[in-house]
Amino acid sequence: MAILKVAVLGNPVLRVPAEPVKNIPAPEIQRLIDDMIETMREYRGIGLAAPQVHRSLQIAVIEEEKDPDAPKEPSSPLTVLINPRIIPVTDQMAEDWEGCLSIPELRGKVPRFKEVEVQAHDRRGKPLHLKATDFFARVIQHEYDHLTGTVFLDRMKSFETLTYPAEYGRFWARHEDEG
Ligand code: NI
Repeated sequence: MAILKVAVLGNPVLRVPAEPVKNIPAPEIQRLIDDMIETMREYRGIGLAAPQVHRSLQIAVIEEEKDPDAPKEPSSPLTVLINPRIIPVTDQMAEDWEGCLSIPELRGKVPRFKEVEVQAHDRRGKPLHLKATDFFARVIQHEYDHLTGTVFLDRMKSFETLTYPAEYGRFWARHEDEG
């Protein structure tokens, strides 16, 4: 396995639609998936899409580890989505904070559907059908966007919440905690 170099904003690979994967069991695809998982974990991402590692293919990996300080909070198990399609199952949207390994440091509030259905293939090539809500649904929509050449900035209603980490801690996180 290997840790891959992450493409950052400005790299055209992030702005073109990714190609469907034709031969999922192929060793080079399986190696790419393993490397994407390792890269996501190395950089403490919650998701990673293949265009972010310079491969214009419809593959996304998602994993949210349990927070040891908040073991009751929901987390997302390791999920590999290949050639995914997303169907919103509600009109309801929610705004919450997002960041992206391809847009280092910056975070902002992004509206997303609260619930989506996903049709995809898993890493063995088997059909995968799942329903996701709230944070997991948010991460899936963020990663799916990468496969269409879209980044979270494109989804923001305004850039007023666009924030660096120190300012997030100073002006935003505290306010959220206060309620
Ligand atoms: Ni991202």
